[in-house]
Amino acid sequence: MARVGIVYYSMYGSNVEMARTIAAGVEADGGTAELRAVPELLPDEVIREQGLEPVKEAQSDVPHARVDELPEFDGLIIGSPTRYGSATGQVQNFLDQTGPLFFGGELVGKTAGFFTGASTIHGGHETTILSLSTFAWHQGMVIVPAGYTATATFSSRTGGGPYGPTILAPTDGSKQGLSDEEAEIARAYGQRFHAITAKVAA
Ligand SMILES: Cc1cc2nc3c(=O)[nH]c(=O)nc-3n(C[C@H](O)[C@H](O)[C@H](O)COP(=O)(O)O)c2cc1C
Repeated sequence: MARVGIVYYSMYGSNVEMARTIAAGVEADGGTAELRAVPELLPDEVIREQGLEPVKEAQSDVPHARVDELPEFDGLIIGSPTRYGSATGQVQNFLDQTGPLFFGGELVGKTAGFFTGASTIHGGHETTILSLSTFAWHQGMVIVPAGYTATATFSSRTGGGPYGPTILAPTDGSKQGLSDEEAEIARAYGQRFHAITAKVAA
């Protein structure tokens, strides 16, 4: 059994749903999944103006991510909403603090995976995951791809792809939360990530 850290940021609530679904997959495979929320950087007035307090409240059970805790996990799954085709400043800022882990080689050999959400189908699902993944390449981690191991990856017309689970989160209210296929892909990824992590960590 392996311990998997799921480090994420979610502004409007869909990526935390994704994080919880992946965690359920890890636990279905007998692993331990622990969510960690990357600290917010938005000014309080932006949170108020955009009415984001309920989303924050819905994540109040999740401890903040801490750089010094990361080496305690056997594998890390990192999730960020898409911003202009790449990761959020919040997640990037958190990763920018991991220099001491890099210099100490503390994440070398651990598994890594990534997920994202985007409001449009061609707005950056792949680019966000690929740009996040350079973190793992540089840290010497073992990237666990989703591939097409979940059959829903072939049929989903919203999120989900070979690089990692994704969610289509349109801003017009036409879709709420994860579709059944997005959820199936996310859950299967959690299971697969744990199974591989347990072997790598053995
Ligand atoms: C400043 C900003 C930039 C964004 N850039 C993109 C983008 O490049 N492509 C896209 O499809 N969606 C984009 N979005 C939409 C977000 O990716 C989407 O709202 C997010 O994935 C929802 O995740 P969350 O509910 O966890 O916050 C952007 C949103 C904001 C606020």
